[in-house]
Amino acid sequence: MTSAITSHLDPEHAGTDHASVEHASALDAADPLAGLRDSFTLPADVIYLDGNSLGALPRAVPDRIAATVTDEWGDGLIRSWNDADWINAPRRVGAKIAPLIGAAPDNVIAADSTTVNLFKVLSAALALRPRRRKIITETRNFPTDNYIAEGVIRQTGGAHRLVHADDVKTIADLLDDDVAVLMLTHVNYRDGSVHDMAGLTRAAHDAGALVIWDLAHSAGVIPLDLAGCDVDFAVGCGYKFLNGGPGAPAFLYVAPRHLGGDGQPLSGWFGHADPFGFAPHYRPAGDITQYLCGTPPVISIVALEAALDLWDGIDMRQIHAKARQLTGYFIDLVEARCGGHGLALISPRDAELRGAQVAFTHATGGHAIIAALIAEGVIGDFRAPDVLRFGFAPLYTRFVDVWHAVDRLAGILDQRRWDRPEFHLRRKVT
Ligand SMILES: Cc1ncc(COP(=O)(O)O)c(C=O)c1O
Repeated sequence: MTSAITSHLDPEHAGTDHASVEHASALDAADPLAGLRDSFTLPADVIYLDGNSLGALPRAVPDRIAATVTDEWGDGLIRSWNDADWINAPRRVGAKIAPLIGAAPDNVIAADSTTVNLFKVLSAALALRPRRRKIITETRNFPTDNYIAEGVIRQTGGAHRLVHADDVKTIADLLDDDVAVLMLTHVNYRDGSVHDMAGLTRAAHDAGALVIWDLAHSAGVIPLDLAGCDVDFAVGCGYKFLNGGPGAPAFLYVAPRHLGGDGQPLSGWFGHADPFGFAPHYRPAGDITQYLCGTPPVISIVALEAALDLWDGIDMRQIHAKARQLTGYFIDLVEARCGGHGLALISPRDAELRGAQVAFTHATGGHAIIAALIAEGVIGDFRAPDVLRFGFAPLYTRFVDVWHAVDRLAGILDQRRWDRPEFHLRRKVT
C-alpha cells in the first residue's frame, strides 16, 4: 500500500511512513511557502481544493474594499477617480500581473472577463492577418474560447473558419499558410495538462500565424515568459490563482509590436486617446489602454489589486515546485488508498506536464462523489460529463490538507457514502 508513495521521499523524512499524516506534516514543515497560508481567510472545517476555480479570500482584501467603499466612494465621491487614482487602476493592476506572466508592465491591463478579452484580442489578431482564413483551436479548449471564436466568425460574415485539433500532437500539422491565429489554453481546464508554449508559438510564427494563449489556469502556478516566447496576445483570469474574488476583472497581454492600430473592435471611450475630450469620433489610445472598453469595476479591481500584493517578492519557481509536489502527492495517495474503486487518472503523471490541478474520471460519472466530498468538507469540483477535479493553490494548500482530503475520499468510496439521492442532484454550478 505505502510503497507507491515514494516520490516525496527526502533524506530528512526518510524515517516516516510516507502514507502517514505525520509525513504530510513533515512536508509542510519543510515548505518554504507554508507561512503564506496565514495571509488567507479559510474556514477551519473546510479543505479547499478548488482554488483553480475560485481562489480563496486574502485577509487584506475586506479592509481594502471597505476603505474603497467608505472613504473613496463615500467621502471622496467622484473626486476619487483622480484623488484615489481609480482611473489608472486597470494599468496599475496589469503592471502587478506582468511579472507573473513574464511581460513588461506596459503590455498588460486588467479589464472585463477573460471571455470578453478573448473577443478583443482574437479580433485584433485577425485584423493583423487579413488574407488568412483559419483559426486553429483544440476540441478540448475551454468552451468559452471556442464559442467566442464562433461569434467572431459570425461577425466577419463567415470569412473565417475554426479548425479544431482533436489531438494535441496534430496541432502543429494544422499550421499552414492560411492560418491567421493559433488559439490555445496553456493549462487545460479539465485535465491540467500543459502545452509547450515556446514550441507552439514558434511553430505558429514559422507558419506566419499569430498566437493567443489563454492563461486562466497558468497565471500564479507556472513561471511564464510571454515576452521571451514572443507571444502575440494572451488573456487570463483574475479570480482563480490570483485570488481576486468572484467575477474579478481578467487581464490581457498584447506584445509591444501589436499595440496601436485599430483592430480592437470594442472601441469604447476608455480606450480612446482622450476619453474626457468627448470627441465625436473614436481615436485609439495607441497603447495597452486601448484594450479597455467602458468604465472599469473599481471595487472589484481594488480587490484584485490587494490580492496581487501577496505575490510581491514570491519566487514563481518555488510556487511551481510546490504545485508539482502537491499534485504528485495527491496522485500517489489516491492511487495507494482509493484503488479498486474505479477512479482513473486523466492528468499527466509527469509533473512537468501538469499545472496545479489533478483530475480523475469515474465510471459512475463522479458527480455524486464530489457532492459527498463537499458535504464532508472537502471542496473540489465536477466537470461534465465525468471529471472529478481538484486544484492545489500553492499559496495556501498544505500537504496535510491533501492527506485529509484523500483520507475522506477513501472513506466515502469504501463505504459508498456517495450513493445517496441528495448527491445525485445536480445544482446549477458544479
Ligand atoms: C481556460 C478558461 N478560459 C476562460 C474562462 C472563462 O473566464 P470568464 O468567465 O472570466 O470569461 C475559464 C473559466 O473557468 C477558463 O477556465
